[in-house]
Amino acid sequence: MELNERILHYLDKQDKVDTLKLASEFNEDHQKIVGAVKSLEALEMVVSDTVKNTKWELTEEGQLVAEKGSHEAVLYHSVPDGGIAQAEIMKTVPNAKVGFSKAMSAGWILIDKSGGAPLVKKKVETITDTVQDYLNEIKKGIDNLPDNVRNDYKKRKLLQEVTLKSFLLSKGPQFATSIKKLETDLTAEMLQSGSWKTLEFKPYNFDALGQPPESGHLHPLLKVRSEFREIFLEMGFTEMPTNNYVESSFWNFDALFQPQQHPARDAHDTFFVSNPAVTTKFPMDYLERVKKVHSEGGYGSQGYRYSWKIEEAQKNLLRTHTTAVSARMLYKVAQEGFRPQKYFSIDKVFRNETLDATHLAEFHQVEGVVADRGLGLADLIGVLDTFFKRLGFDKLQFKPAYNPYTEPSMEIFAFHNGLNKWIEIGNSGVFRPEMLLPMGLPEDVNVIAWGLSLERPTMIKYGLNNIRDLVGPKVDLQMVQSNPICRLDK
Ligand code: PHE
Repeated sequence: MELNERILHYLDKQDKVDTLKLASEFNEDHQKIVGAVKSLEALEMVVSDTVKNTKWELTEEGQLVAEKGSHEAVLYHSVPDGGIAQAEIMKTVPNAKVGFSKAMSAGWILIDKSGGAPLVKKKVETITDTVQDYLNEIKKGIDNLPDNVRNDYKKRKLLQEVTLKSFLLSKGPQFATSIKKLETDLTAEMLQSGSWKTLEFKPYNFDALGQPPESGHLHPLLKVRSEFREIFLEMGFTEMPTNNYVESSFWNFDALFQPQQHPARDAHDTFFVSNPAVTTKFPMDYLERVKKVHSEGGYGSQGYRYSWKIEEAQKNLLRTHTTAVSARMLYKVAQEGFRPQKYFSIDKVFRNETLDATHLAEFHQVEGVVADRGLGLADLIGVLDTFFKRLGFDKLQFKPAYNPYTEPSMEIFAFHNGLNKWIEIGNSGVFRPEMLLPMGLPEDVNVIAWGLSLERPTMIKYGLNNIRDLVGPKVDLQMVQSNPICRLDK
């Protein structure tokens, strides 16, 4: 007999039965019984009520104790008749710390200090290991534990409560002991012969899960990127063109008033490109002004006072920050005649970093730039506040920092409610006149800007601890497919 028919026969004699009981009576897997019940329910042959059962089970440690004895009994039995040095027994017996203190408070052992170094000795001749006995009963399904003992074992992580879901079955409106074969398809023959009038058809199952459509899936980074993009667009920012991973040192560093001896330019942090190794086309008048502000100063600055070399500026590299893109855009704005602007970009940058759980040699940078007359630190704090609020961070703190191209500069910390701590989330500042004035921007124009990584908030959002779970060959594609669209503020 098939399983579902066996269930019907059982119910014929009994008015109600729980699926857990059926599973043990039939010696079948509970899940299989539940499957059969679902199909009987669809035919309205049975009805079911959900039942939640809780039961106490041994933990892994509890299993061990049931088998080998409690930690205190094991320790007691390891004490030889003449006693043993305390230090020795603590080293050799597993779980000695717990075992020792429990055996002491049970009065099974004593410490003898008469001979100098403390000696552990048996205090009683025999013991009864009630912990082991109780646990073995529970294993057999007998649960006579007094509440205080149960709580104690729970605290000792020997017992745990598990919840089982089962169904209480009773006869449905279509109950019978055998299952009628229902038609699943309406065929041309049935229509021609008219047999469809008397045949019984299987009802539609509108609860069946549909076939998941085959389609592409956005990677979490891209989901978070579109969320960031949305926020910037709603705040009236325009996206900058970031389609040049290869950049010259000039735009990546020199235009940003980053001196040519700056350690970040060094091959340790920057990937230089060998072919083509150099860029030779620059706006030469602007390049001359950059050279001058580095080597001699100007615009009220004394510069760095070193001999600036075009060869250094020509070197091609993989851009180390999207601030290179911001520099190009600001220069362009100056050439076209200044008008206030709000720009953003979200794209890849590259740094020759030591790889670890949170760092790869490439990552995405999120950057925002606002250029207008008379902007200052208060405007920067204001715009950061608005921006990070949209991300769900309503508490911010700032720490003075240093960037060659901003003054003042601030690191941004946000309070993360989920993690319940302050996290460093970005870097920001007011661009220096030594960067802006050589571009040809009017003197009363200020530019405030900030940057953060896309990976950090994505990892926090998706609860990932290792960057390799997000990027690279070890990424679980199921994770990519099944993660929902993200809302950063939720
Ligand atoms: N470029 C900076 C970085 O790489 C971020 C930043 C952008 C800082 C704009 C200040 C202003 O960390």
